[in-house]
Amino acid sequence: MDGVTLLSEYKPYPFEIESISMTFRLAPEATVVRAELKLAPRAGRADLHLDGEELTLREILLGGAPLPPGAYTLTKTGLTILAEQLPEGPFTLETEVEIAPARNTALEGLYMSNGLYCTQCEAEGFRKITFYPDRPDVMARFHVRIESDLPVLLSNGNPVGLGKGWAEWDDPWPKPAYLFALVAGDLRATSGEFTTASGRKVDLNIWVRPGDETRCDFALASLQRAMKWDEEAYGREYDLDLFNIVAVDDFNMGAMENKGLNIFNSKLVLASPETATDTDYERIEAVIAHEYFHNWTGNRITCRDWFQLCLKEGLTVFRDQSFTRDVRLGALKRIEDVAALRARQFREDAGPLAHPPRPSSYKEINNFYTTTVYEKGAEVVGMLARLLGPEGYRAALDLYFERHDGQACTIEDWITVFEDASGRDLSQFKLWYVQAGTPRLRVAERFENGTYTLDFVQETPPTPGEAEKPPRHIPIAVGLLGPNGNELRPTEMLEMTQARQSFRFEGLAVRPVPSILRGFSAPVLLERATTPAEQAFLLAHDTDPFNRWEAGRSLARETLMAMAEGGAPAPDYLEAVGQMLADESADPGFRAACLRLPGEDEIAAAIASKGVAADPDAIHAARRKLMETLAQKHEAAFVAAYEGAAVPGPYSPDAGPAGKRSLRLATLAFLATRDSGARAQALFEAAENMTESLGALSVLVAEGGAAAALARFAARWGAEPLVMDKWRSVQAVLTPPEAAAGLVARLAADPGFEWKNPNRFRSLLGGFAANHAGFHRADGAGYALYTDWLIRLDPLNPQTAARMSTAFETWRRYDATRQAHAQAALARIAATPGLSRDLAEMVGRLAG
Ligand code: ARG
Ligand code: ZN
Repeated sequence: MDGVTLLSEYKPYPFEIESISMTFRLAPEATVVRAELKLAPRAGRADLHLDGEELTLREILLGGAPLPPGAYTLTKTGLTILAEQLPEGPFTLETEVEIAPARNTALEGLYMSNGLYCTQCEAEGFRKITFYPDRPDVMARFHVRIESDLPVLLSNGNPVGLGKGWAEWDDPWPKPAYLFALVAGDLRATSGEFTTASGRKVDLNIWVRPGDETRCDFALASLQRAMKWDEEAYGREYDLDLFNIVAVDDFNMGAMENKGLNIFNSKLVLASPETATDTDYERIEAVIAHEYFHNWTGNRITCRDWFQLCLKEGLTVFRDQSFTRDVRLGALKRIEDVAALRARQFREDAGPLAHPPRPSSYKEINNFYTTTVYEKGAEVVGMLARLLGPEGYRAALDLYFERHDGQACTIEDWITVFEDASGRDLSQFKLWYVQAGTPRLRVAERFENGTYTLDFVQETPPTPGEAEKPPRHIPIAVGLLGPNGNELRPTEMLEMTQARQSFRFEGLAVRPVPSILRGFSAPVLLERATTPAEQAFLLAHDTDPFNRWEAGRSLARETLMAMAEGGAPAPDYLEAVGQMLADESADPGFRAACLRLPGEDEIAAAIASKGVAADPDAIHAARRKLMETLAQKHEAAFVAAYEGAAVPGPYSPDAGPAGKRSLRLATLAFLATRDSGARAQALFEAAENMTESLGALSVLVAEGGAAAALARFAARWGAEPLVMDKWRSVQAVLTPPEAAAGLVARLAADPGFEWKNPNRFRSLLGGFAANHAGFHRADGAGYALYTDWLIRLDPLNPQTAARMSTAFETWRRYDATRQAHAQAALARIAATPGLSRDLAEMVGRLAG
C-alpha cells in the first residue's frame, strides 16, 4: 500500500553499525554535519539504504575514497548504495551534509528555539540531521564533536574534550538514533548530585536560559527522588557519571529521554510558587521521573520497531504512575489516572481513531504517540502486575532486564518474560495489546441460601478494521460489604476469560453489597443495574478508596445525564454530597476529587453511548444547574469546607497543603453561584501563589465576570509566556459557550500571540477545544475557527497540527446539524493543497 508501513513487513537491517562519529559546525542557516559510520554486513550482500530527508549532500566517501555520483542513488527520503559497490567485509562511510536549523519550524531534527540549538529525534527526526538507518533496532556507539562559539555545548554520554569553540562527547552505551541529542546555547545550570546504591557519584544539571535558574530546584529534587525510587522499586541504577536536563521553549511534546541528555518542554521544568500551580508541580515531578525511568525502559532495552512503542511507553507510564502514588498522592493517584484515562483514552477507543496499544500499520508514526499507546499501555502493564502480584511482577521485571538488556524488543518478548516468570499462559491476555476497543462488562447478581453469585458478560464493540472481538482475560477485583459497611469478604482478584462467566461467594449470612472492579483493576466499562441509594452507600462506606470515589462519580454522571434530558437530580445524590462535604475525617484532596463534577465531554460520551445524540447546550445548562442546586442546598457546609481548608503560612507543593487548596478551590466554584463570585474575587486579590490565583481567576471567568481580574493578571505576568499561557487557557476553556469562539478569535488575532510556539498554540486552541459547548456550537462557528488555525499551522508544524486535529474525534456523538458542520470542516482540511502526511492521515481516519 502507498505510504503505509506494516508490522508484518518488518525485516532486520542487513548491516551492523559499530560506531558513528559526528562533527557539527553549527550555523543557523547552514550547519555542516559530518558523519563517519563504521559498518559491517550482517549476513550476505545487500544494498545499503540510509534514511535522509531535507539534507544537502556535500560529500560522500566510501572506504576513504569519494563515491562517484553513479554509484549511489539519492531520493527525497534517502540514499542507496547498491550491493555491488560495497566491499564484502566491514567498511567506513563518510558523508557531509548541510542543514538549516533556523528554518526548521517542524521542531523535528536539529532546530532553534530562542537562539538555542536543540534536537528532537524520536521517532524519525535523526534522518533530518544526517544519512543513517533511522530505526530503533540499529544500535551504535556515538561520538560527537560540536563546533560553535556558544558557551554551552552538550550531547549524550560523557564529555571527553572541551576547548574554545568546541566540545566532544562520547556515549559508551550503544543506542538507536532516536536517542541522539545535541544542545548548544547560552544556558545556566542548577547542579546537584546523586550517589547510586553501588556508590557511583552522578553529577546532575538542569540547564535553562539565564534568568530561569531560580525556578529549577523542584525539578532537580524530583530527579533525585526518581533516581532513588527506581533503585528501590525496580533495582535499577543509573549508568553514566552525568545526567543533564535541558529546558527549551519550543517543543512539540512534553519531554524526551535522550541518553544522558533529556530535553524538556520548559513548562515541565520551571516552577516557582508564584508561577506554577500544584498541578504543574505534580506533573513536573512525574515527567522528570518518566524520562529518567526511560533510561532502563526505553534506552537500555528499546523497541525493535515503532509498532512496539507501547513496550517502552506503556511500561514507563506505569512506572511513573507508581512513583507518584508512592512519593506523593497515595490512593488519590489512581483516581486521577482513571479520570484521565476515561476522558482521553476511552474517548479515543470509542471513536474513529481507535487502535490497539500495539498497532499493525501506520502512515505517520508521530500520529501514534497516543493516549492508547501511553495510558492504555500502562493499564495493560498494571493488569499484568495485578495478575502476578507484587513479587511475581518484580520477578518478571528482573527477568526482563536480565534477558533483554542491550536489545531492541517486541511485545512478544515482553509477554514471554511474564509467561516464563509465572508459568502462566498469557496468549489470551495478549489481545489487550493487539486489539482496540474498551470492553463492556455487564454484571448481574443473585443471592440464594447464603451463596452470592456474580454473573458477568463481556463484550467489546467493533472498532475500525476490527469487527470480531473475542473475549479478553480480565482481572476483576471484588470485595463484599455488609449492611453496616463492614467488609464481609476482602478484595479478591477474579479472572474472567470467557464471554460469560459466574463467580460464587459462599457462606454469607446476609445479602452483601458488592464493590466491583476495585482500584479499577481493568480498563473496562462496568455496567451494573444499581440504585442511587446503593451508590450513596458505597460512597459513604466502601473500604476501597477508588470505588468510593467511583460510586460518587457514577451517581453524579447519571444525575447529570438525567438532568440534560430534562429530569431532576436524584435526592440520594444531593444528600451524599452533603455528607462527603462534611466528612472531616476524609482526606481533603479526596473530598475535592469527590466534589468535582464530571466534565461536559464525559457526560456527552455517556449519553452518546446509549445511542442518543448529545446536546452540548443542554449538558452545559444541566451541569450549571446542578452546581447551583448543590450550592443552595448545602451552602453552610460549602462555606465551612472552604474556610476549613485554608492553608496558612508559606507555600509548599506537598500533597497535604495541595489537597487542601484543591478542596478550597472545588468548593469555591460552587459558592460562586451564591455570592456572585465575591469569595473568588477576594481570594484572587489575596493569593500569593499561582494555584490560588489561577483557581480564583478560573471561577471568575466561568461566572462571566473576570474582566478586571484578567487585566490585572496580564499586567503582572505579561512578560512570562508560560504564565500567560494559563491566562489564555482559562479564558478559552471556561468562557461561557456563546462568547467563547468570539473571544478565542480576538485573542488569536492579537499580534503578540506567538502561535508558532506549540505551547502558545495549544493554550488557546487546545483550550478552546476543551470548552465543550463553545467548540461544539450548533452553527459550526467553533469548528470553522479551529479549522482555520489547523490549516494555518500545518505547513509549519505538521506534528502539532495533526495531534490537535483529534478535537474532531467525537463528531459522531452529536446531532445531524453539528455532524454536517464537522464533516465540512474535515473536508475543508482534506482539500487543502500541500497538506502534510501527518494531518492527511488524521483527517482521513477522522472522516472515515
Ligand atoms: N519518548 C517521549 C516520551 O514519552 C516522547 C517523544 C515523542 N515525540 C514525538 N515527536 N513523537 O517520553
Ligand atoms: Zn515516554
